[in-house]
Amino acid sequence: MRVLVLGGDGFCGWPTSLYLSDRGHDVTILDNLSRRKIDVDLEVDSLTPIVPIGERLRAWREVSGREIGFVSVDLATEYDRLAAILRELRPDAIVHFAEQRAAPYSMRSEKTKRYTVDNNVRATHNLLTAIVDTGVDAAIAHLGTMGVYGYGWSGTAPIPEGYLTVKVPTPDGDLEREILHPANPGSVYHMTKTLDQLLFAFYAKNDGLRITDLHQGIVWGTQTDQTVKDERLINRFDYDGDYGTVLNRFLMQAAIGHPLTVHGTGGQTRAFIHIRDTVRCIEIAISNPPRPGSKPMVLNQITETHRVLDLAKLISDITGAEIAYLPNPRVEAEENELVVRNDQFLALGLEPTTLSEGLLGEVKDIAARYAHRADLRKIIARSVWKRGMQTSDDLLTSLQPTED
Ligand SMILES: NC(=O)c1ccc[n+]([C@@H]2O[C@H](COP(=O)([O-])OP(=O)(O)OC[C@H]3O[C@@H](n4cnc5c(N)ncnc54)[C@H](O)[C@@H]3O)[C@@H](O)[C@H]2O)c1
Repeated sequence: MRVLVLGGDGFCGWPTSLYLSDRGHDVTILDNLSRRKIDVDLEVDSLTPIVPIGERLRAWREVSGREIGFVSVDLATEYDRLAAILRELRPDAIVHFAEQRAAPYSMRSEKTKRYTVDNNVRATHNLLTAIVDTGVDAAIAHLGTMGVYGYGWSGTAPIPEGYLTVKVPTPDGDLEREILHPANPGSVYHMTKTLDQLLFAFYAKNDGLRITDLHQGIVWGTQTDQTVKDERLINRFDYDGDYGTVLNRFLMQAAIGHPLTVHGTGGQTRAFIHIRDTVRCIEIAISNPPRPGSKPMVLNQITETHRVLDLAKLISDITGAEIAYLPNPRVEAEENELVVRNDQFLALGLEPTTLSEGLLGEVKDIAARYAHRADLRKIIARSVWKRGMQTSDDLLTSLQPTED
């Protein structure tokens, strides 16, 4: 298959591009490298040393003998270039990772809220319009998030894959209808993903686009079978308060002797998936697209759910790290249940990597190996969801790791 990977320089997009290339697909990456620029603005760097995109691609050619193409385009603002690339490439599948993806970053300031909405919504809409405009017949797989469902909305009832069957009362009795699961975003970032869903529903209905929306859990882990082949292929590992995801942050904190930072009670339950499973799920999704005229297919791309505090305790048991409780900067329930259906991926052949298999390797091979690159000043999350909320700053001094 000819596959265009939008956002293919990022944490999920890079290993996916290598995996698809390794599997024999003809891959082109489109990325404006905005994620690297945000690192420069935030004065932070991936824990793992990531080389420039040109060097990444050269290393892949040397290691695999295969070419991955690259085009630098801003999906949100360079519509004509996007359309020209689609006309030239005529991809069979397009994987859309290219959005600003951090909830804390999206809530950092008025500027980052506006940037996140402008970037994400325009990027998605430009893509859909360009596909219609160019007549390209490509299956689209978009990376959405479990956060579109919100947390705790349905108590212990399992979260279905995208759609909910409801009863609508009428004078003649109840009508049964299938609706998009109610959206309940917890941040401006999550809100953009709920807006994406409406764009997908419209373009699938109106123009017959074949769209799969992958409601992904929090991705953990770093390496895949391809990224381990050469250090220049290593995947990024974000640990900072804006972009670091919870489990990878705990792993890195444990490796440098920093207390594991749990926000609130740690009673929040979240869904997880290892990066190795993310890349497999993408190939499964683009190989099994919905038929033209169908509503968007929604797959919950998760393999496990855990309470944040249980994760911290697990890592503390393995490594001896202390746990520190910080004020929760988010507007959310202290605790929630989360039961998620993921039947479709399992039926399509996904064999999940579990936390128990992968955790120790991550601590030793990545977090400890690159611990010397960590900037301790960047660990604490400083974004707060509302003005006047308590921040973690007053606790900072007590959290600095000791010499030993
Ligand atoms: N990382 C996770 O835990 C996670 C969980 C759920 C969903 N997702 C979703 O998966 C997708 C990828 O996440 P990630 O962790 O790889 O993020 P990332 O920030 O590492 O990668 C996103 C890539 O998209 C590029 N990009 C952003 N805006 C662009 C634009 N306008 N034009 C061209 N390129 C653009 C960035 O430069 C970056 O390389 C995101 O949409 C995210 O919402 C990620």
